[in-house]
Amino acid sequence: MRSAALLTFFTFIATCSARVIQDRYVVELHDLQALSGSKRSFGSLHENFYRNLRKRDVPFDVVREYSADGVFVGASLKLSADQVGEVAKMSGVKAIRPVIEVPRPKPVKVQVVNPTDSGLPDGQASHIMTGVDKLHAKGIAGKGITIGIIDTGIDYNHPFLGGGFGPGHKVIGGYDFVGDDYTSSKQPVPDPDPMDCEGHGTHVAGIIGANPGNPFNISGVAYEASINAYRIFGCSGDVSDDIIIEALLRGYQDGNDILSLSLGGPNGWPEASSAVVASRLEDKGVVLTIAQGNDGSEGPWAASSPASGAHVFSIASVDNIKIPAQNATVHGVTHDPIVYLSTFPLNATGEYPIYATSTDTTKANDACDPLPDSTPDLSDKVVLIRRGTCTFAQKLGNAAAKGGKVFLIYNNVPGYASITTGNYTAALVAADDGAFLVNQFASKSNVSLSFPQSGAYYELPDPHGGFISSFSTYGLNFDLELKPTVGAPGGNIISTYPLAKGGYTVESGTSMATPFVAGSAALVLQTRGKSIVKGIRDLFQTTASPLSSGTEETDLLQTLAVSGAGLVQVNIAVDAKTIVSPGQLLLNDTAHFNPIRKFTIKNTGSETTTYKLTHVPAGTAPTVGSDGILTVTAVTLNRQSARVDLSQNQVTVRPGSEATVSAVFHPPSDVDEKTFPIYSGFIQITSLSESLRVSYAGLAASIKNKQVIDTTDTFFGFKTPAIVNTAGQPGVNASYTLKGDDQPILVLRLAFGTPLLRLDLVPENFKAPPHKRSLSDSFWYWISGGILGDVKTLGALAEYDYVPRNYLGASTAAANGWTEYAFNGTLADGSAVKDGSYKVFLRALRVAGNPKVNTDFESWLSPTITIKRS
Ligand SMILES: *[C@@H]1O[C@H](CO)[C@@H](O)[C@H](O)[C@H]1NC(C)=O
Ligand SMILES: *[C@@H]1O[C@H](CO)[C@@H](O)[C@H](O)[C@H]1NC(C)=O
Ligand SMILES: *[C@@H]1O[C@H](CO)[C@@H](O)[C@H](O)[C@H]1NC(C)=O
Ligand SMILES: *[C@@H]1O[C@H](CO)[C@@H](O)[C@H](O)[C@H]1NC(C)=O
Ligand SMILES: *[C@@H]1O[C@H](CO)[C@@H](O)[C@H](O)[C@H]1NC(C)=O
Ligand SMILES: *[C@@H]1O[C@H](CO)[C@@H](O)[C@H](O)[C@H]1NC(C)=O
Ligand SMILES: *[C@@H]1O[C@H](CO)[C@@H](O)[C@H](O)[C@H]1NC(C)=O
Ligand SMILES: *[C@@H]1O[C@H](CO)[C@@H](O)[C@H](O)[C@H]1NC(C)=O
Repeated sequence: MRSAALLTFFTFIATCSARVIQDRYVVELHDLQALSGSKRSFGSLHENFYRNLRKRDVPFDVVREYSADGVFVGASLKLSADQVGEVAKMSGVKAIRPVIEVPRPKPVKVQVVNPTDSGLPDGQASHIMTGVDKLHAKGIAGKGITIGIIDTGIDYNHPFLGGGFGPGHKVIGGYDFVGDDYTSSKQPVPDPDPMDCEGHGTHVAGIIGANPGNPFNISGVAYEASINAYRIFGCSGDVSDDIIIEALLRGYQDGNDILSLSLGGPNGWPEASSAVVASRLEDKGVVLTIAQGNDGSEGPWAASSPASGAHVFSIASVDNIKIPAQNATVHGVTHDPIVYLSTFPLNATGEYPIYATSTDTTKANDACDPLPDSTPDLSDKVVLIRRGTCTFAQKLGNAAAKGGKVFLIYNNVPGYASITTGNYTAALVAADDGAFLVNQFASKSNVSLSFPQSGAYYELPDPHGGFISSFSTYGLNFDLELKPTVGAPGGNIISTYPLAKGGYTVESGTSMATPFVAGSAALVLQTRGKSIVKGIRDLFQTTASPLSSGTEETDLLQTLAVSGAGLVQVNIAVDAKTIVSPGQLLLNDTAHFNPIRKFTIKNTGSETTTYKLTHVPAGTAPTVGSDGILTVTAVTLNRQSARVDLSQNQVTVRPGSEATVSAVFHPPSDVDEKTFPIYSGFIQITSLSESLRVSYAGLAASIKNKQVIDTTDTFFGFKTPAIVNTAGQPGVNASYTLKGDDQPILVLRLAFGTPLLRLDLVPENFKAPPHKRSLSDSFWYWISGGILGDVKTLGALAEYDYVPRNYLGASTAAANGWTEYAFNGTLADGSAVKDGSYKVFLRALRVAGNPKVNTDFESWLSPTITIKRS
């Protein structure tokens, strides 16, 4: 539940998930290829369009232009919201979409793990998980392939990223579209130098291209590939999606084989501008790898954009089997080294006696209060403090006040977790190691620690390694496409970092998994030839290894809604002699269900091969809770799987031939449709030497039955939608002066995405029209006066299309917790409303709903709002 006081942070603009940038639109024009030649003589498409705008007295400013003929032609404009309907209707205009803000990628930090004592010899764990090590051993490292990275730039001076910029170097080119000071609310200042001032892009670049031979023995997946760096973020802050479009088109025009984007924002719709452009580039033969997102804790239906674009690779994260750490040496007693969670050795060169702030290893608030006067000078000691209750900074500050310089925090739960220690020389150790040291201190034994400055690097085994990362976002997208597509290592990845910030770091996120697949795609293009590009998704999906949902043999396979086809197996994608396509069967919902699907098995090997076919179901994921409204945040899989009848259980294919198999799907019938269960799994194709899989996923319900508007009080403690005042209090028949903060604010939560959300002002005595099916054909798209379907109102207040659902775990509107609209007395067409009493009529179209069918909308009529300006 959220406190209503949070609402005082409302901004007085119409926001929709706070991501729409006011008065900015991307207009797509029908391009030359779509027009008859004769029109060209009138000048460029852009000039014609601007002339038409001027003719209609539409004020506008051109922010940027796009002229990728055959892909995307148009412009990003500054345009008043009340002109949008007019522009949308102009001939030559194909589409108009608001410019949205895409958040800066925020990698997740190191995950909790439990140490065990098995171990791998080197820093290549993620390569071993995916067979990349086997390809490197054969000298395959991406030679001849070019990858464009759209991110924060790259520190190309890093010696393991080529140590330079331009032709002849690893980073052969690129562009800075924004400049250091840019944020989505500032003017970009482009320049040709894509140097990274933050670090994210340099980390991403190392996963693709770090040269071997560095201190951590890491190497990029495709370290012989060439890289272009497209920088679209300033040193801090977000980016507007019209710049992402520009970078995508530039990446295409520069001839990159692969474009990788470790970024995105809540969306779930393939219709967002950047998703549309990404998807068109994929159709043009560029491989697009895009992060699925780090919103795993929000549960299903949270796919992000542009990863939600049709056909593009959306990448899930799988936890690494190893986590980088360091060992401290124990002196005074015989004891194994103590592992502390830090990529680098602590900057502490002496041998330090131990001092514990408490001898009670269960003390919850250890060192949260200033240490007692009896505390000795701690400057020559390593101070042991138990984790818990207050911030690490507070504990460390209290110990530092007594002279402490070197600190170990011991965990209060099993395993490890990353902690924020600010400027302090401090790291986390496991609870049992902490207990050992505290007991040594308590028994006054002469034990001390030292922190070797080299040779003590140690990779902790991660028992969650090989499972989907808990932060990886669930799909599907709202068109029921399988998002994510595949997974790759993205949890606990060590890679390059700007030299000014230390040169290497460990990060987690789908941001790290995405370049891994980009690099993997380079290895496939290098070995199989660039003509394989149209089949590359099938190759990766059919050769990926399915992921389990748990460590027990009896645990269900993970739902494909979070793991896609599973963890990429790159050497198999390179070597497979059997080509199965398509790699995924998208079964849609029960209303659009086509049970009979076909796939082909092609034998490109030199021997006649017999394949056994079996159905391997994954766990079925109920996505909506018992109230039938809110999506679940923790998915509990069940065994109610689909049934599949295959035309053959075995098929023999001669060299160079192919066989077609048909599968008849029966979605699980023993499920509760109100929980909107996603079922998924694989059809496995196994020969003596190979094992491949076709993925499938579908919804065992009709998506149109899913309620869009959250009508519960779960989030705020009062029922939404609601009209509230600035203090966040829901009022009844309230009166507003519209002076200063005294405005009515509509607060709503979207429990599900909607293709069309519309607010209208209506008279106080308005009667919502009876639900009937046949409506007039009036133009619904974009604000069109006071008419939507055949419902007449006083006028539109706002209209948003392809809106994502809101998140339960977010505490602000800006973080997508809710959607709000503040009424300042002006209709969407710019006209002022007279003083009087009104209501707001809210409509949301259901997913897969028809905007011309009244019953496909949900609606809500507000209480009376009285406007009294004086
Ligand atoms: C109300 O807000 C809109 C933008 O959301 C703006 O165009 C309009 O001028 C404002 N009207 C008043 C009276 O402030
Ligand atoms: C570095 O990695 C290579 C290849 O995986 C391995 O053979 C070597 O032993 C590793 N070296 C160290 C110091 O870990
Ligand atoms: C404690 O151990 C250190 C070396 O680890 C040694 O130099 C010192 O003399 C010992 N002190 C006592 C009191 O045993
Ligand atoms: C680090 O410590 C662990 C646990 O005590 C031990 O298994 C490992 O061999 C040590 N490695 C190094 C490089 O010291
Ligand atoms: C390590 O600590 C010493 C003295 O405590 C300091 O002078 C030095 O700058 C530190 N090094 C780093 C890399 O922080
Ligand atoms: C770390 O130290 C620097 C310089 O002394 C200071 O500017 C910064 O605020 C400190 N950061 C933290 C988290 O204490
Ligand atoms: C599911 O069906 C709807 C309605 O026909 C369609 O728009 C959508 O693209 C389909 N999804 C997939 C993945 O085929
Ligand atoms: C609110 O207004 C309605 C008419 O729109 C009226 O029936 C109702 O009594 C009013 N309630 C309050 C608390 O004033």
